[in-house]
Amino acid sequence: MIQIGKILKKVPIFKMLGKESIDFIVERLKFKTFEEGENICKIGDPGEEMFIIISGATDICIGEEGQQQVVATLKSGDYFGEMALLTGEPRSATVIAKETTETFLLYKNDFDVILEKYPSISLSMGKIVSQRLRETLKKAASVTGGKKEGFEAKSDGSGPSGTLKDMALVDLISFCEANSLTGEMNLRSGDKEGVFTFERGQLLSVKLDDLGEDEALDTMLSWNDGTFEIHVRPLTLKTGSESAGDDDEEDVTKKLLIVNNSRVVRRVIERAFKGLGYEVSTASNIATALDVISTLSPDLIISDIKLADGSGVEFIRQTRDQQAIPFIFLTDNAVKPEFEQQLREIGDAELTKTHEVSEIVKLVENKLL
Ligand code: CMP
Repeated sequence: MIQIGKILKKVPIFKMLGKESIDFIVERLKFKTFEEGENICKIGDPGEEMFIIISGATDICIGEEGQQQVVATLKSGDYFGEMALLTGEPRSATVIAKETTETFLLYKNDFDVILEKYPSISLSMGKIVSQRLRETLKKAASVTGGKKEGFEAKSDGSGPSGTLKDMALVDLISFCEANSLTGEMNLRSGDKEGVFTFERGQLLSVKLDDLGEDEALDTMLSWNDGTFEIHVRPLTLKTGSESAGDDDEEDVTKKLLIVNNSRVVRRVIERAFKGLGYEVSTASNIATALDVISTLSPDLIISDIKLADGSGVEFIRQTRDQQAIPFIFLTDNAVKPEFEQQLREIGDAELTKTHEVSEIVKLVENKLL
């Protein structure tokens, strides 16, 4: 048990979890070994589980059997199979053991329970999933487009682009469907620009000027020359509560107030927590924050230790005159021992030097859940 915990602590998504949380996950893991050349999962199949590699290596492959292309090779500490569990989509790639590979396996039910309990994991996974999806799509583009010029995978984070001479519009639409695209495909010819919107490979809308959808599609199908660009939108992951599919517990939205001088810090933290289903308000100084507190009654306040109209200690004291709300203070600098002492006396206030969002999420979860 202790041994497994140690291995898990090396996996980036679990790194920030405490011992108790690691034990919770360890209890749900199964051990499985795959021999060299063995198919661990197959593209297009439904996803029942995800895997964490303990030792060995796996190739992530796309394309038909016999003509497979390796998109990536994963090693000890990496994980795979999470995409189908997070999105509900079929497997996006075939995974083959490159050598004897030992894994921990986590079934969907347990995965859902863990994500529900530790939303910070889905936050870190979400970033990786979007990145993997983009890479796989690029690779698929180069396989589909073959050596044709004009169908190229860019390296700037956007999706494939090219010319309609090299790839007909019908083939482009099939490509987007086959690769479960969530995003837009823009088509340009002369001064005209049309937009196809896809959600998980389904064509949702076709727009060109103010034409109706059928007319817009017919017009673009007749374009003999022009260019296209595919833009992948980051995935919206299912939240923990959605994926657990458990509705006996009442879902109470937690309210957060973020108080910080820096607009960027406010935005980054706000986005992360909104993505996790929190109701988030922000304020840049104490005066505005106190107004928000009296109307919103947040469950927790994340604040800078120095604000334009006073210190963190002044802020927490004025807040506590109104309401007993827990605080998390963020700081980059060496903190004066008096400040830490004052916070201890006031109580229910923590200090963290991290600005790593996943770490802040973890602190908030520990306080509120
Ligand atoms: P899933 O789609 O469930 O099954 C295949 C897995 O391969 C997928 O989850 C990811 O874990 C992994 N995968 C897909 N594309 C990539 C990539 N570009 N880089 C690394 N891993 C990938």
